[in-house]
Amino acid sequence: MEEELINIKNTALSFILEAEDLKTLEEVKLQFLGRSGKLTLKIKDITKISAEKRKEVGMLANEVKNTIEDAIKQREVNLKHKTEKVLRQKIDVSNPGIKPPLGHLHLVTQAIEEISSIFEKIGFIRARYPEIEWDWYAFTALNFPQNHPARDDWETFFIKEKPSPEKGQMVLTPHTSSGQVREMERTVAKRKELARERSATGVDDGISIRMLNIAKCYRRQSDVSHTPMFHQFEGLVVGENISIVNLKGTLDYFVKSYFGEKRKSRIRPYHFQFTEPSFEVDVTCGVCLGKGCKLCKAGWLELGGAGMVHPNVFKATGIDPKKYTGFAFGWGVERVLMMKDGIEIDDLRLLYSNKLEFLEQF
Ligand code: DAH
Repeated sequence: MEEELINIKNTALSFILEAEDLKTLEEVKLQFLGRSGKLTLKIKDITKISAEKRKEVGMLANEVKNTIEDAIKQREVNLKHKTEKVLRQKIDVSNPGIKPPLGHLHLVTQAIEEISSIFEKIGFIRARYPEIEWDWYAFTALNFPQNHPARDDWETFFIKEKPSPEKGQMVLTPHTSSGQVREMERTVAKRKELARERSATGVDDGISIRMLNIAKCYRRQSDVSHTPMFHQFEGLVVGENISIVNLKGTLDYFVKSYFGEKRKSRIRPYHFQFTEPSFEVDVTCGVCLGKGCKLCKAGWLELGGAGMVHPNVFKATGIDPKKYTGFAFGWGVERVLMMKDGIEIDDLRLLYSNKLEFLEQF
């Protein structure tokens, strides 16, 4: 009998240790301590043994029972602790996760998308013209005289190619204004193509342009506020009765949409070869909102150029300047990006350095 009790104890203990979850442990408990469990039945048998031995066996049986019960309790605590730990690992949201690196659009691309969608809303259509361009488009058709300093080697990148007899030398576009000429030429050519249709139907909507040309530009410059390659966005609107009022309205709309409702715009007289009158557009500083502060000094920041299309540009592209008028503007994408409040970049060249530490901030 004693031996059997010891056996029961040992088997029970090994089963308890092997139980890997609470359900198995419960089964082991039943198997030994349940109503018809191995130990319970054995204890019942004690009544059958002789009176003098009964006390001793009884004490042993009790000890076996206590040992098994204690072992079960201990195992139960251990198993509970273990499952809690697993559960905690699964749902603890404060645990640092393993993040795969996630990319995003480049800061300049983000700005280009935002600018496009702002102008799209008021009917501007995005255009794209060559980055390698003839002198005609970049300068001559834009009313630049032959000796204008912009043609100087130090400003413009010239391509070592035989010049075209009509269109001159090849250059890397120094501004998006070349797109104005392309757009006007394209519109005039399209009109010629449709001339027969027009006379057949008698319907003539006239010339109507609302172009937004966002493109890379190149100039020989590199310092904290200049990169040899940068981006501009150029607007061109041509039609009958287009006036400065339309230009100012468009500027205001852009400034409020891009910089925020609190910012204001103003135009100042200036000079450009391809516009008459010409203006420089300013926006109130994002910090002092026009009052004047350490950052802006006078309260206004310079945005870029604009003006009414010069009659010579219309003539060069075959549009009648007596019938049509238009306005144009051309601003730097990187420049407007920097002027947006909250963005401070000490060195513009960082934008194109491909440094992840820098790019990841945006
Ligand atoms: N193309 C000029 C530049 O790069 C900017 C500019 C000024 C564009 C006046 C325009 C304009 O369309 O009307 O400095």
